[in-house]
Amino acid sequence: MNYLKKIKPSVRALETYAVKGKTFQPGLIKLNQNENPFDVPDEIKRELTEEFLKRPWNRYPEVFPVDLLVALSSYVRQDVEGIIAGNGSNELMYTILMATVSKGTKVLIPSPSFFLYEKAVKVFDGEVVSVKMNDDLSFPTEKILRSARKEKPAVIVLVSPNSPTGQSISIDDVEKILDGTSSLVLVDEAYIEFSERRSVQPLLEKHDRLVILRTFSKAFSMAGLRIGYLLAQPALCSELLKPKIPFSVNAFSASVAIKLMQRKEIIDERITFIKNQKKHLFNMLRSFEGVEVFPSDTNFLIFRTRYEAGTLFQRLLQRNVIVRDVSSYPMLERTLRVNAGTEQENKAFLAVLQELL
Ligand SMILES: Cc1ncc(COP(=O)(O)O)c(C=O)c1O
Repeated sequence: MNYLKKIKPSVRALETYAVKGKTFQPGLIKLNQNENPFDVPDEIKRELTEEFLKRPWNRYPEVFPVDLLVALSSYVRQDVEGIIAGNGSNELMYTILMATVSKGTKVLIPSPSFFLYEKAVKVFDGEVVSVKMNDDLSFPTEKILRSARKEKPAVIVLVSPNSPTGQSISIDDVEKILDGTSSLVLVDEAYIEFSERRSVQPLLEKHDRLVILRTFSKAFSMAGLRIGYLLAQPALCSELLKPKIPFSVNAFSASVAIKLMQRKEIIDERITFIKNQKKHLFNMLRSFEGVEVFPSDTNFLIFRTRYEAGTLFQRLLQRNVIVRDVSSYPMLERTLRVNAGTEQENKAFLAVLQELL
């Protein structure tokens, strides 16, 4: 097993990413990955696949996808030089941490939060500074500030709305953290379209240490096509572009993203529907005896029951309902996460859960 000695110890200690449960098949009530339950409309699928029949598939796309960046620029109202697109925002997370983290570099991450940040920091041999969320799972702004002053992390990661908890940090608190530290502040806004809070984008003008991450995987129904982007001041973007994998955005996915930004009214209607369904799920779960449901500012929510989460997860799965078991995260014992699906999916989930409880 000599070859294993060549693998970094920090990598050997990691686990391979896996999503527990079943892969998607028709009939499965899939509420485990915070996806949009509605697919890209057929009319758009047809239009773009026909267009792509005529395009050469043997040629590289552009190193960085100019048409997509131009479309994003008018969509987010920010200069092209302040935007980087990637193959999903996961790729850009790695890009940012590749540019900032080496052996021993500290990265402050409130906990619990999106697992991939901690994993990527470890891949680059950095050190995670973990700050526990408040008991009600809201963001501990003062604790973050205190810890950052002491530990001096290179990067502070704020996922807002946060996964898996569903709660957000206010723009004022993000500004406090920017003003009170000298760290690069990465705000992951993967779920911002479902939030009642404002994006932190207005802070970009004043703060050259702010990076915002967004994705087309959630509100824009494009999880399978992989498009994400980041916003930062141009000078920071030009540094972040250096370690970035070239050609990672494929031409087809870029075209779909452009088309969906042009047809934003379709997306907006879906967002409103999903937010209402989430409220319905919240109210129904709150009415179930023995269920504690946490407030959510996004398209999913977490709830705690008396039962062991893994067992309840398996029982739901046996009934063809897949949710996420988040009970291995700190503070989330006996807790499951569920995203808002279609009306029928939510109804089915609630009926099966009620029966099992
Ligand atoms: C907080 C957060 N950021 C990013 C992502 C991943 O986004 P993408 O599909 O753009 O890589 C997810 C997906 O679950 C997420 O929960």
